[in-house]
Amino acid sequence: MKRRRVIYEGKAKILYEGTEPGTVIQYFKDDATAGNGAKKDTIEGKGVLNNRISEYLMTQLAGIGVPTHFVRRLNMREQLIKEVEIIPLEVVVRNVAAGSMSKRLGIEEGTALPRSIIEYYYKNDALNDPWVSEEHITAFGWASPQDLDDMVNLTIRINDFLSGLFLGAGIKLVDFKLEFGRLWENDFMRIVLADEISPDNCRLWDVTTNEKLDKDRFRRDMGGVVEAYSEVARRLGIMPESIQGENKGPVLVK
Ligand code: TMP
Repeated sequence: MKRRRVIYEGKAKILYEGTEPGTVIQYFKDDATAGNGAKKDTIEGKGVLNNRISEYLMTQLAGIGVPTHFVRRLNMREQLIKEVEIIPLEVVVRNVAAGSMSKRLGIEEGTALPRSIIEYYYKNDALNDPWVSEEHITAFGWASPQDLDDMVNLTIRINDFLSGLFLGAGIKLVDFKLEFGRLWENDFMRIVLADEISPDNCRLWDVTTNEKLDKDRFRRDMGGVVEAYSEVARRLGIMPESIQGENKGPVLVK
């Protein structure tokens, strides 16, 4: 038997060589980290939920014409994705003040922003993913002006669509982080949505109570992380039945 090749291991995911040329297998771990790895834990069932939630959101986005790296889910913890060249940026969209924006600019958490705000962070663990501007991005060649233009246009569409989708599930999309990649098809390149969209990289609040249904429960030691992620999956109507097969994690109510 041949052992499959690990391409990359991150904090919450492992990338393995794919089954077909130009593909990669994305494995969702149960590991959670915060503060650039300063805080670590394992949250049983998280990987299964994120795999399913990300599959659902990427598929819905593909349905409105947003190009993504997602091909198909393979099993409870793995999905097949297209091999892309990751652009070293975290694109954060904010609809409501929270987290680092509230801290940095002294705006009370929960304040609705006058309009959606896009921020960029340079993906570099050694530097703690610093906040950067479009000037840095184009001057240092992390993305071209055209790449950036494509990313912004996609980000605005994704935010509009996901805000509505979550609102329909009684959830406020406070903010979230996206990553993009370059997909090469023969001599042509296009920018596609990559990585994952899950409660690990979104702030999701109950629309009436503002209860947190995302990774802030872990970051802020609030407990109930898997329960919150399960609630998101349940409200989206996609609670994975297979999670029961793992004989761990949340108990499912159909
Ligand atoms: P922030 O308020 O800490 O800057 O986070 C903004 C959003 O981006 C929030 O939904 C969490 C997400 N995020 C990530 O997914 N990865 C990260 O490394 C950081 C800093 C934020």
